[in-house]
Formats: sequence, C-alpha cells, structure tokens
Amino acid sequence: MDPEHGTAGRVVIDAVHPDDDVIGDLGAALREGALVAFPTETVYGLGASIARPDAVRRIFEVKGRPATDPLIVHVPEVAALDGIVDRFPRRAMDLADAFWPGPLTIVLPRGTSVGDEVTAGGPTVGVRVPAHPVAERLLRACGYGVAAPSANRFGRISPTVADDVARDLGPWLGPADVILDAGATPLGIESTVVDLTAGRPTILRHGGVPLEDVVAVLGEVDGMERRVVDDEDRAASPGTSLRHYAPDTPMVLVEGDRVLVDRLIDGLRERGLGAELLDLPASAVDAAPLLYRRLRSADSRGSDLLLAVVLSPEGLGRGVNDRLFRAAHGRVVIDSSPTTMGRLDSLARG
Ligand code: TXA
Ligand code: MG
Repeated sequence: MDPEHGTAGRVVIDAVHPDDDVIGDLGAALREGALVAFPTETVYGLGASIARPDAVRRIFEVKGRPATDPLIVHVPEVAALDGIVDRFPRRAMDLADAFWPGPLTIVLPRGTSVGDEVTAGGPTVGVRVPAHPVAERLLRACGYGVAAPSANRFGRISPTVADDVARDLGPWLGPADVILDAGATPLGIESTVVDLTAGRPTILRHGGVPLEDVVAVLGEVDGMERRVVDDEDRAASPGTSLRHYAPDTPMVLVEGDRVLVDRLIDGLRERGLGAELLDLPASAVDAAPLLYRRLRSADSRGSDLLLAVVLSPEGLGRGVNDRLFRAAHGRVVIDSSPTTMGRLDSLARG
C-alpha cells in the first residue's frame, strides 16, 4: 500500500454495471462502521451509515471538518426516508418527482433515526437520492441512510476522481475503510441545496440543478446570487463560507473578456510574475465536469496567480461561478488599472 495514500482499501468498480458481490460486501462494511468513499453523479462522497454514530463522527476527523457543519443523508429512493425526515411535504414531493434521482439536496425537519452527529445538533436534515448506479446500489446494500460529505479535506477542492480522494484523505483513513474507484463523476459540481424548513423555499447552495429549474417547480424561491457569510459566522449552511474550494495558489475571478485577461497576464509578466488562466469551456455544462480537475492541476503547477473568467450566470453557470468565486476568496477583478495591478502584485507575492 502506498504510504502517501494510507491504508484504506482501494476497489475498482464498473460505473454502469457494478459487481453485486463487491457492492454486497461494501454495504456490510458500512453497517459494521467502516467509511466508504463512493462516486455520485456530482462528486465523490465519504460515506458512513447513520446507524453508526461512531463512524459518522469519524467523517469529521478524516475531513478536518468543524462539528458545526451538518451532513447530507443519501438514500436510494423516497420510501427510504421513513424515520430520516419527520415529514415529506408536498413541495418536497414535487422536487423529488422533478429531480430525483439527481443533484438536489432537500433540507427538511429531521426524523428520529438521525442523530445529532449527522445534523450538527440542528433540527433539520439534508437528504438526497443520487443518480449514480454505484451509489444507488451501495445505498440499497447498506439498508440505512448514508451520511456523506464531499470526500475532500474541509475547505479544499472537491474530488471528481478516486485519486483525488486517496491523495486528500488517504492518510486519515484506516485499513477497514474503502475508496471505491468508478472513474470520473459525470456532473463535476455538488448538488443544489434547497431548504424547505424556512417560510419560503431557500437555495442554500447553487449546484447541479439550476435555479431556473427549481423555480419552475416551486414558483418563487429565496437565495442570493452570491451568498457569502463571514467565516466566523455560524452559517445556515456552512458550505456558504468563503473558505471553500480553495486552491493553494492565490486566485482571482475576472469579470471581463479575453482582452482583459491578456492585459492582466501581460501586466503581471512585466512585474516578473507568472499568472495562469484557468482553462475552462465557456459553456457551463462543459465547464462543470472539468472545473475541479483543472483547479487541482493548475494549482499543482505552482504559478504565482490563477485567473478565472466568470461564466454566463444562468443554468449551471451559477453553480460554477459560485465555486470560482469561493476559490478566489471573493476577489473579483473588473479592470487592469494601476490600482488593480498593484493589488494583484501583492496578492501574487503572498
Ligand atoms: O453533491 C453533493 O451534495 C455531495 C455528494 C457527495 O452528495 N455532497 C456534498 O456534501 O457536497 P458537503 O457536506 O460537502 O456539502 C453539503 C452542504 C454543506 O454546505 C452543508 O452545510 C449543507 O450542505 N447542509 C447539509 N445539511 C444541512 C442542513 N440540515 N441545513 C442546512 N445546510 C445543510
Ligand atoms: Mg463539500
């Protein structure tokens, strides 16, 4: 076993026709309290059975995640939510009919089979039915809800391939834990989180289901374009903290065209600084699956500054822009004035 990747087992599994025996063993491992990193259509999750509070608590240790940040519970179908949510209102049913299985998390009043270790002590629970054959079968095999955050260290870039998980979490996982490898996750960004426990439905995180589609089902919903909370705040949804999805290389988000980007890169070069443009397709549907991989690889090349260009803020573009904005710690550039260049200079020099 590669010491850098730790002692967790690594199991390659077919993404479309996963082996039943392997899935059966992993369901048993979850019931016995192991952590299993598994693919969903969005990103890889680090799963624990909600019937094993000890295992759920270990998720927080392995991720380095604050205990105040609640976990999403994953189930294979709506019927499996019995006991996990206290009630499943009409609006939840409408969302489930429209988007499940799929990249939507619904926050509802919690049921009796969900402990404080899952909800961070809160009265609500986020639930979702993922659309990935491996996830779906694993959840059925486990027989209990599976609490799973994205399988990355807290605040870092989410994993879209098993190697990302191994590199990030391997050193913290144990010999009974397993990292499943079913190739790249198709969607590439996390689920949209909709809170149905407030007065009006509220989007807590933009993601795989576009805002427009949620609005088409529910009518009006609340949710700001750029929902940012101070890191010190007790956030309604801590994933809204600005520290999320952060590369090591300082990054800024450019609101402008290619001409502005070239001007910025040239200006930085004149100052002896190497800046790199995060290379993403302009179409959000194409950009989403590449976003985290490109962020990771750009980060590993160690340039002085990363520049990313905002996408058109509609459809999946909202979710992608949100991740870019956070990766850039909220720093947005709109011109190449001397003031801006000075700011970028000192940012790039750390
Ligand atoms: O696509 C996804 O949602 C992935 C895959 C693995 O399912 N999971 C994921 O989990 O992204 P995580 O923990 O990295 O992000 C979940 C977000 C966090 O921002 C968390 O604060 C919020 O959802 N959340 C979870 N339960 C909540 C609750 N009861 N109330 C408000 N926010 C909640
Ligand atoms: Mg996450």
